[in-house]
Amino acid sequence: MALEIRICAPEEFVAALTPIWHYFGAVPNDEDAEKLGRVLPTERVHVAIEDGKVVGGAGAYRFDTTVPGGAQVPTAGVMAVGVLPTHRRRGVLRGLMRKELDDIHEWGEPLATLYASEGAIYRRYGYGPASISGDFILPRASASFYAAPPAVGSTRMVSLDQALELMPPIYDCAAAETPGMLSRSRDWWEVRRLATGPWSKGDQMRVVLDIDGRPEAYALYSIESEMVHGISRSVLQVREAIGSTPAGMREIWRFILDVDWIERVRAAFIPPDHPLFLLLTEPRRMEYVAGEALWCRLVDVGAALSARGYGEGDPVVLDVVDEFCPWNEGRWEVGAAGVDRTKSEADLRLGVDMLGSVYLGGFTFADLDRAGRVELLRDGAVARADALFRSDRHPWCPEIF
Ligand SMILES: CC(C)(COP(=O)(O)OP(=O)(O)OC[C@H]1O[C@@H](n2cnc3c(N)ncnc32)[C@H](O)[C@@H]1OP(=O)(O)O)[C@@H](O)C(=O)NCCC(=O)NCCS
Repeated sequence: MALEIRICAPEEFVAALTPIWHYFGAVPNDEDAEKLGRVLPTERVHVAIEDGKVVGGAGAYRFDTTVPGGAQVPTAGVMAVGVLPTHRRRGVLRGLMRKELDDIHEWGEPLATLYASEGAIYRRYGYGPASISGDFILPRASASFYAAPPAVGSTRMVSLDQALELMPPIYDCAAAETPGMLSRSRDWWEVRRLATGPWSKGDQMRVVLDIDGRPEAYALYSIESEMVHGISRSVLQVREAIGSTPAGMREIWRFILDVDWIERVRAAFIPPDHPLFLLLTEPRRMEYVAGEALWCRLVDVGAALSARGYGEGDPVVLDVVDEFCPWNEGRWEVGAAGVDRTKSEADLRLGVDMLGSVYLGGFTFADLDRAGRVELLRDGAVARADALFRSDRHPWCPEIF
């Protein structure tokens, strides 16, 4: 039976979500679709149709991603990718990825990012692991700060409406200087970040921290309460904790780590250079477990590379291999003065997936070299490329999408 891949019609939206929902053990309903539709327009959803029925779907949020240098690059945030178990391993995903990447290219978004359920799926389409993040569960008894400056600021619990007013500017400030963070619309805050759904346990608590009368940090968390023999075994689950300043970040964590009755504090999407590693007396007690987080695909290599900032040094010529999106293939000269196609000899040859891995600064060319993932065509090119691509922090996306 022939497979048709196309943009989803409005009346097919629920059906397009059904394959991925299946793997979460649920069937989407009109209410789920209505909520998601506020951040995911139907025309950014692709469906695979066989015999008149939707058998696979893939969506792409539209947001901007901060890249090293501070630019915010139009991005397709790929999500809700699923193929019904009855139709796996017949090329449905390949068809969806083909059409989706062609359309993202046509929409003029130079970047696509995603979180992968399994590492084996997306490399073949040009995505590379681009950041690392982890989760931890820290006993509150081991959560003291070493030689921390005296506490500053004051905290207040806020209503949903106050959160909607106070939190986005703090987030935007942090996002402006953190590669990997994505721009959030008001709808995104309402239906995603500040919403509580069937998948999140416990009510959401909202706290804002002011320093000198200015909101500088916030936290969203829930408490999984448990009493055993009258002793609290409660867990505080951090959903998000963000400061617009280093002091804000430190103080909001000081608050989180000292809520009464809490035995352990759990958090996820913590980057490996998070300040907690340096603040805590016993960072190992976090039992931090990390994995690859954001995957990045340069859909338009020229536009994506041009949007980034670069360090000092001579330009470098990259020979990019991209079988899936051949419009990117070839040699690119990259330097502080600009990025352009070139006929000059290449210094380094690499797959577009590996270019995605270094793009946000999560990995270096030296990392690729040590893993045998870049071909060295001229001595010294790795160090030169790293001088250009360097970033002062690890990319961080504080949420999964
Ligand atoms: C992952 C999933 C979308 C793949 O769909 P599919 O239609 O079976 O994939 P295709 O038949 O197009 O396979 C494309 C290629 O990827 C490979 N592949 C796909 N899924 C894979 C997996 N989970 N592990 C290893 N290889 C995989 C196939 O072997 C095939 O390789 P080839 O091109 O070399 O022949 C589907 O299995 C699924 O819905 N899984 C559960 C939900 C999920 O994980 N979604 C992704 C969320 S990020």
